[in-house]
Amino acid sequence: LIAKAFRQQFVIPDFTSFVKDIEDIYNRCKSNTLGKLADYIPQLARYSPDFWGVSICTVDGQRYSIGDVDEPFTLQSCSKPLTYAIALEKLGPKVVHSYVGQEPSGRIFNELVLDQNKKPHNPMINAGAILTCSLMNALVKPDMTSAEIFDYTMSWFKRLSGGEYIGFNNAVFLSEREAADRNYALGFYMRENKCFPKRTNLKEVMDYYFQVCSMETNCEAMSVIAASLANGGICPTTEEKVFRPECVRDVLSIMHSCGTYDYSGQFAFKVGLPAKSGVSGGMMLVIPNVMGIFAWSPPLDHLGNTVRGLQFCEELVNTFNFHRY
Ligand code: DON
Repeated sequence: LIAKAFRQQFVIPDFTSFVKDIEDIYNRCKSNTLGKLADYIPQLARYSPDFWGVSICTVDGQRYSIGDVDEPFTLQSCSKPLTYAIALEKLGPKVVHSYVGQEPSGRIFNELVLDQNKKPHNPMINAGAILTCSLMNALVKPDMTSAEIFDYTMSWFKRLSGGEYIGFNNAVFLSEREAADRNYALGFYMRENKCFPKRTNLKEVMDYYFQVCSMETNCEAMSVIAASLANGGICPTTEEKVFRPECVRDVLSIMHSCGTYDYSGQFAFKVGLPAKSGVSGGMMLVIPNVMGIFAWSPPLDHLGNTVRGLQFCEELVNTFNFHRY
């Protein structure tokens, strides 16, 4: 890092002026008070709507953070690309995609629907993520107990974040599990349609899904995770090779087409970058070979995307030339 600094070889050479523009965008988004907190999981409705943080980590390890970046929140659907990545890394895309599709569903994230092959549409919606959890349970680590799979998953997330904060919020977990009629319905519907691998223990799979959604983190740690994805699977702060580049390519492709719920088509058009949002108000944005960004603010729009996070992404590509096309 120091050698690169001396040679002025950073991917963002003038980081000081870059972050000045980021600060301006941050402040413009801050004054946007639209949106509503997710309340279908009671614990999520307890966050202050004023929380607003943005963290950036470049592929060569330059960092910048502004706002509520140490405040803990749960991963929710931002976990979906990560468990999908572990399944891909361990099983390969052929096996994974014999169980789950690659198409945007065109429906809300927890819609009770399968594609024409009786598979969940993609791993970024609830049905697809529950399916990915079953692959972890029945195929990746069939010999592990639930406790061991939890630890195993957490150790992957920690490696991706370069050891930064990944924890667990038990109140959110209990609240989620209590309010999970739709997710259970999705689980039973998929079992009825023989979507899961043999040996799947549905109760364990559902618990595992709620646990992964309830893992806790903050903007700083998530920006390193996003940067590991931007960096072909190598964590920029530790230089550990966590995922193979082919695996990261598949993850980013699905994030590009399916990462922001039913806004994914418009997001791909306007922002042109892979992203994943979650109902706790997170937005993970990956600029391949450049940086990872994590924006967090709990108020959501009617499709479930963080209002400030979305505005941030749109303003970012209007200010800088990051749109892929
Ligand atoms: O299952 C749920 O409804 C939440 N744990 C996660 C939902 C979420 O963030 C939306 N995802 N696509």
